[in-house]
Amino acid sequence: MTNGSGSGPVGVALVGAGVISTQYLTALSTFPDVRVLAVADLDVERARAQAAAHGVPHAGDVASALAIPEVEIVVNLTIPAAHAEIASAALEAGKHVYGEKPLALAPSDGAKILAQAQSLGLRVGSAPDTFLGAGLQSAARAVASGLIGEPVSAVAVTQGPGPESWHPSPEFLFQYGAGPLFDIGPYYLTALVALFGPVVRVAASARQARTHRVIGSGPKAGTEFAVEVPTHVHALLDFAAGPSTSATFSFDSSVPRRMIEVTGTEGTLSLPDPNTFEGPLQIRGFGDEDWRDLPVEGTTAGRGIGVLDMARGIRSGAPHRASGELAQHVLELMATVTDSAERHGFVELESRAPEVETLPDDWDPVAATLT
Ligand SMILES: NC(=O)c1ccc[n+]([C@@H]2O[C@H](COP(=O)([O-])OP(=O)(O)OC[C@H]3O[C@@H](n4cnc5c(N)ncnc54)[C@H](O)[C@@H]3O)[C@@H](O)[C@H]2O)c1
Repeated sequence: MTNGSGSGPVGVALVGAGVISTQYLTALSTFPDVRVLAVADLDVERARAQAAAHGVPHAGDVASALAIPEVEIVVNLTIPAAHAEIASAALEAGKHVYGEKPLALAPSDGAKILAQAQSLGLRVGSAPDTFLGAGLQSAARAVASGLIGEPVSAVAVTQGPGPESWHPSPEFLFQYGAGPLFDIGPYYLTALVALFGPVVRVAASARQARTHRVIGSGPKAGTEFAVEVPTHVHALLDFAAGPSTSATFSFDSSVPRRMIEVTGTEGTLSLPDPNTFEGPLQIRGFGDEDWRDLPVEGTTAGRGIGVLDMARGIRSGAPHRASGELAQHVLELMATVTDSAERHGFVELESRAPEVETLPDDWDPVAATLT
């Protein structure tokens, strides 16, 4: 890991100018400690349009972005099938890399990225960074302060009809490396691993309601495509620290529902949607007739705060929180859930997650701290 190198704001290149790039470009352009220098894509026109819309000086193909000496972090917003290839190319070019989830398609690919980065003295970061937002950070502080006593269990549910209705190119969301488990699961699983630490064993069951889906928006609306992964997954997760969790990830339900509840010996916390940076955060103790709101404090600056935390860590030498190691554990967890569903039995996990420190109370994304 590079420690305490360079000075001033950290140069960033985005690779992948698709749907999610707008959220990154919007947030990153408000952080004085990073400077977006380039947008790259296989579709160079798309890169040019996004760069022009957000005042980014360079647009082009991936090689041209990697050749810019001032670029220190490559933010990899390509589809999951390209995550490992782009991460590896960025590392090879001497850049730190922060990627969208999942870290890679398979744990073996994720491990290769981490090993390559380590051998080159570079950092790997990964989405999601929603667990650094105000809602989940407030939940982490509430759990750490003992508000619900000793954590015992959690229930996580994310279900709905699936993203093919609104995403203009949803095919990848139903291919290997996505589906509700790999696409939405990282938000829930990262939140739980950040709270409880690593998972040691899982059991799961999976189904697929439909073999084909139809694109609902954009130029390809009406096009049918094949579903390659399970679209309804139930998992039981045992955490090393003790808590046991049941989790449901589904694109097969007509009823949208997103919830995480964490129960301890003194009561239950209702966490916010872990795919957001905000609240609400609520508590209900034994004997309480209803939920009570808890204060939600921290940043709601959006996707990109994990990149900023990594940029500041590059300068200071401090570890960054949305780390490759955390993402690798979540990736192994998701692969093990898939494995368990195929084998119909409990499966043990090998990887361990790093402990994740909460952000300092005064962590401010729009403060200029790098001079
Ligand atoms: N869309 C969302 O709401 C959303 C939310 C959170 C996270 N994400 C994640 O962000 C990532 C991208 O999702 P998206 O919705 O923006 O996808 P998208 O299909 O809209 O955009 C992906 C872009 O990557 C480019 N690309 C693909 N392979 C490439 C390669 N080898 N080199 C250079 N460019 C390449 C494509 O041309 C495309 O412009 C995925 O990992 C997804 O899980 C998406």
